[in-house]
Amino acid sequence: MSEEFGLLEPDENPGDEWEELDVSDTAADRIARRQDREFDEFRKRIKDTEQFKLQESVFDDATLAAIYKLVQDGYVDAFGGPVSTGKEASVFEALGGRAGERPESGARTADDAPGHPDREVAVKVYRINSSNFRQMRDYLEGDPRFEGIASDKKAVVLAWTKKEFANLSRARKAGVRVPEPIAVQRNVLVMELVGHADDRARRLSEVTVENPETAYGVVREYMRRLYRAGLIHGDLSEYNMIIHDGELVVIDLGQAVTVHHPNAGEFLERDCVNVANFFTRAGHSVSPDDLRAYVTEPEPDPTGEPESAQ
Ligand SMILES: Nc1ncnc2c1ncn2[C@@H]1O[C@H](COP(=O)(O)OP(=O)(O)OP(=O)(O)O)[C@@H](O)[C@H]1O
Ligand SMILES: [Mg+2]
Repeated sequence: MSEEFGLLEPDENPGDEWEELDVSDTAADRIARRQDREFDEFRKRIKDTEQFKLQESVFDDATLAAIYKLVQDGYVDAFGGPVSTGKEASVFEALGGRAGERPESGARTADDAPGHPDREVAVKVYRINSSNFRQMRDYLEGDPRFEGIASDKKAVVLAWTKKEFANLSRARKAGVRVPEPIAVQRNVLVMELVGHADDRARRLSEVTVENPETAYGVVREYMRRLYRAGLIHGDLSEYNMIIHDGELVVIDLGQAVTVHHPNAGEFLERDCVNVANFFTRAGHSVSPDDLRAYVTEPEPDPTGEPESAQ
């Protein structure tokens, strides 16, 4: 009975904890298999809409079923146009539904994501036949959260989508400004849309940074917070940071790895080089080594003597 009085084990490896991950048969796969009338009508309707005609390759039946499930569960109400079509994923604008009013299996809300009816959301749809599949697997394979994930494409992309959701949640908890994750279903992620359909957020690469020193201060603090929460972005650059209303938002956390990933050091180094180079070009000279030292500086020991008393 000694366990009854056992102390909680401190988390030795923050960032490595993970929940059971079942990517074998999602609710969306079951819907796609069943092909009932309601889903069939939804499928026809969505395939006919202008914004999807160009996207046909993204929307195989199981992907459509994932979108259908997100609509049914109240996370998405109506689709707007595409925001971006990349190699791995397409991002769409959409109207968010009454998320949270109908708690359901499959899709999840973030702990801190109560329903926000009528707000705009971003819907990121990952391609199962991603050309970067091999590279995705490399990121996942060294990640202790994903041990045992089968090496087939579907499982990898589904794990990847869940990973982006989890990374966004963790980044938010750590105080890093990222889009609020709302729901994930199969290969589809719903998150807060930064900016508005008619007033888009822009990438850092597309704007002239008026005050690079201040912006750099924000970025390096976010990198440090992320690192202290056990994560490294892994693809950080002016292309994966967006700006809206004077607010800088870090996006695209699908590839972010825990600090225990075998290539964590290399990813961090690359992020630091990209960020330092960008701000140096923008007029605020920064060295990648200084940035790295800042990001990885050990957290002050809260039990230690206050500095003034030393
Ligand atoms: N939550 C969001 N709010 C607003 N815009 C977003 C959001 N998420 C993504 N975008 C837009 O979509 C683009 C692509 O998103 P993201 O970087 O996450 O996907 P990606 O798969 O890396 O695509 P790419 O290969 O084009 O970089 C971003 O550069 C940004 O312009
Ligand atoms: Mg990107």
